[in-house]
Amino acid sequence: MSDARRVVVITGAGGTLGAELSRQFAGEPDTDVVLSDVSDRALEATVNGLPERRGSVETLRADVSEIADVEAVVALAMERFGRLDVLVSNAGVLAPNGRIHNLSTEDWERTFRVNVLGAVNGIRAAVPVMRAQKSGSIILTASVAGLTAWSHAAPYCATKAAVIQLAKVAAVEYARDGIRVNCVCPGTFLSAIHEGLPQEAIDAMAAKHPLGLGHAADLVGAYSYLAGDGSLWTTGSAIVVDGGYAAP
Ligand SMILES: NC(=O)c1ccc[n+]([C@@H]2O[C@H](COP(=O)([O-])OP(=O)(O)OC[C@H]3O[C@@H](n4cnc5c(N)ncnc54)[C@H](O)[C@@H]3O)[C@@H](O)[C@H]2O)c1
Repeated sequence: MSDARRVVVITGAGGTLGAELSRQFAGEPDTDVVLSDVSDRALEATVNGLPERRGSVETLRADVSEIADVEAVVALAMERFGRLDVLVSNAGVLAPNGRIHNLSTEDWERTFRVNVLGAVNGIRAAVPVMRAQKSGSIILTASVAGLTAWSHAAPYCATKAAVIQLAKVAAVEYARDGIRVNCVCPGTFLSAIHEGLPQEAIDAMAAKHPLGLGHAADLVGAYSYLAGDGSLWTTGSAIVVDGGYAAP
């Protein structure tokens, strides 16, 4: 990374984790951010909730499953700030619950389009710019669901496993270009993604986390590490931050 200002792009910035990451990066010194989400309303809420802006904040509505949208977000970063140092591909959806044979083709396609194609599009949009700079850090939000089996959540588990593998392959493909690609695998932290789940389902999830359920704020340290110079020798990794969920 250069000693110039740092530019961070975040997708899914309107969500619970996206808002927390936006607060973190917008509050860091010498950092400008471009925040995007498919929901204008969610994006606006995130921007209104930024307590401290030490750099500039740009926003753009973008659907990560559409390559043109993601390219437009990167183009905005380039137009406004002239570089892209960190891309956080964070947008994701939890598919409707159901056993594999009961889930519809639409359920499968939607989950793959957002969770997998969304991450692929982030890499495709960021790589040309980062290759030209000879530096960059791409951080994909995966999940412990990509490492363990959750009954009735096959599309989510399969897509998050794909994201972990995507980060590894991209790490190998782009290491010589100075681009690092890693992912974070959170355990369960309460967010909009869990809206509508019955309390007993939440309690059951909590019981499986030795440290209890997390909060989005518990994740930011991993993203800060992967975005910063302290992780210059870290690529292709899947950093698990899960309150001990995957330990047993
Ligand atoms: N909450 C958890 O327990 C948990 C655990 C592990 C991983 N994750 C992952 O963390 C990430 C953030 O999830 P969250 O819990 O903050 O959920 P959230 O629902 O609060 O945030 C997700 C955001 O992504 C946006 N989004 C959805 N589809 C999109 C699309 N096509 N294009 C652009 N934006 C889109 C939504 O509008 C929302 O603002 C997701 O990738 C999720 O899979 C969450």
